Amino acid sequence: KTRRVYVSSDLGPGALGLLKESGCEVVVHPDRDRPPSRSELLDGVAGASGIVTLLSEKMDGELFDHAGPQLAVVSAVSVGTDNIDIEAAARRGITVTNTPDVLTAATADLAMGLILAVNRRIVEADAFLRRRESWSWGPRFFLGRDLEGEVLGIVGYGRIGAALARRARAFGMKIIAAGTGPARDGVERLPLQEMLSVADVVSLHVPLTAETRHLIGPREFASMKPRAVVINTARGPLIDEGALVQALDSGRLRGAGLDVYEQEPKIHPGLLVRDNVVLTPHIGSAGEQTRQRMAMLAAENTVAVLTGGDPKTPVACPTAQTEPISAATV
Ligand code: GLV
Ligand code: GLV
Repeated sequence: KTRRVYVSSDLGPGALGLLKESGCEVVVHPDRDRPPSRSELLDGVAGASGIVTLLSEKMDGELFDHAGPQLAVVSAVSVGTDNIDIEAAARRGITVTNTPDVLTAATADLAMGLILAVNRRIVEADAFLRRRESWSWGPRFFLGRDLEGEVLGIVGYGRIGAALARRARAFGMKIIAAGTGPARDGVERLPLQEMLSVADVVSLHVPLTAETRHLIGPREFASMKPRAVVINTARGPLIDEGALVQALDSGRLRGAGLDVYEQEPKIHPGLLVRDNVVLTPHIGSAGEQTRQRMAMLAAENTVAVLTGGDPKTPVACPTAQTEPISAATV
């Protein structure tokens, strides 16, 4: 019997071709512009041996059971897998894979772009000109904050955090990281609260887990250096968004650059009205080449599992990990 792979979005001819060449029947969610609803998803996965999924789709035990016992692989087209119940998958013998590395540069680029946009007020200045107000050059006109000499505090010095550090160093920023491990790349590590008290810009690069949810809340905002900038290209719920809006309203923060949100796709209204906040709609990996690499890697991982091989980038089950990532280790 031909095995079926359900693909929740059109990944393009390269990745779909790879799946088809492996002899699988490939069923693709037909709507390019709208993700499948939960019921479409449940219908789609029924009888599937593989699921290729996006981060906006919840993959849980109910869905795995609905798919059936032949389900062998859930392949995420993302590095983050917080939408997938990894333990429920592990209990059913389902392999979960993701797409690390291929999107590291793109995501670090966006974080760097947000730092530049917030510190130099690029988006606010653009919006000002489009209002067609009169203006003239002045020594204090649209004064922002230089990057050179500023301290960048990285929370989560992994692949993306390290890639951001390389970029920021080229702009003359000093780099520190939260955590207690040994310094990597010569980057000094400080306990989170201490790091927050000295960083001019704080950028988040940890996965979302039960331990990192609201990692940055009222206490952390209170610890931050006055007029700090917060950048989040990781996952929205890492930040207590209500506390963020309060910290912005009180003037404690200089600004924020956000690509992800606590209630995606909803945006907190307190963020939408602020000039010193730059908002992008979860586009960290949205480069043409990056997305193509993600799609190919997700397809390769799927084929590898379905043909009895080892996937390139499996996701370890957290309960089986010896050193789980937790708030304590960042
Ligand atoms: C994007 O957010 C990803 O996790 O790949
Ligand atoms: C997170 O996924 C990272 O690579 O830093």
